[in-house]
Amino acid sequence: MDHLTLPSATVRSGRLRFTDPDGAARALALGAFSLAVPDGLDVTPGLDFCRSFHLPSRGPEDRRRGHREHGHPRSKLGYEDRPDQVEQLQLESFLWDDYLPADVAALLRRMKDLTLDTLHGVFDAAGVPEHDRDLVTGGARQDTGLCYTTVNHYRSDLTGRAGIVEHSDSGFITVICTDQPGYEILHEGRWLPVHQPPGHFTVNLGDAFRVLTVKTPRPVTAVYHRVPELHPEPPATDRSSFTVYMGPRYDMMLYQYDTDGVLLPYQGFRDFSVEKAKDLGYAFHSRIEAAHR
Ligand SMILES: [Fe+2]
Repeated sequence: MDHLTLPSATVRSGRLRFTDPDGAARALALGAFSLAVPDGLDVTPGLDFCRSFHLPSRGPEDRRRGHREHGHPRSKLGYEDRPDQVEQLQLESFLWDDYLPADVAALLRRMKDLTLDTLHGVFDAAGVPEHDRDLVTGGARQDTGLCYTTVNHYRSDLTGRAGIVEHSDSGFITVICTDQPGYEILHEGRWLPVHQPPGHFTVNLGDAFRVLTVKTPRPVTAVYHRVPELHPEPPATDRSSFTVYMGPRYDMMLYQYDTDGVLLPYQGFRDFSVEKAKDLGYAFHSRIEAAHR
């Protein structure tokens, strides 16, 4: 089967640089690229946590396990047993220190800084002016937008269902760390496995970017992606992945440039997300929808 190699990029001194001259243009058109894991950043605590968060707790101080039953009362996201192979934990960045093991929270904080630098690099590539970025992100630099992690455990014992069902991400950017192949993107009408170079994250660009730039000279694709049903042969373990996501808050508007480059409100992000979930036939986060009523 054909596969796709994504354009690759690196963040150095806070600046995103693509390896090839046409890398930025390809990344915007695909809605995805590879991002080098910075020197000295150890992703092991995150991958280990993917393998433990769903296991039964060993006591009240145990932050590595027990997240299936935890409840996470301060989160609007939390644990979800999805209809595909994935069970996942989603937590907003302001809760990482309270709910997660210290080494995992520290790793995610570094990935959050990297995600922010990368987001601004993509804004540069797409021609989104500096002075509009606080408005459209809700203040990603000040951490007043929405930033959360998703921690995924792919349950290979569950059969007859996708690994993760096809979708686009709703926000601006998602940085993904995984330990196994499986990620595929829809490219020119065909699903293609993505060849992931070692030592790289995968970056997805999402709906908030697409809506913002669709009428501009450099429109950004919200990449359609999935993971097919996985059944690793023993001794291989279940697939693990975790991500850092940045998007608008649910109480914010999505924005769009018109053909003259004027920035206009487009639609409330919560309404956009609820409509999208309905179109794709899945339930939106019940706690966020409830807050709206
Ligand atoms: Fe996704």
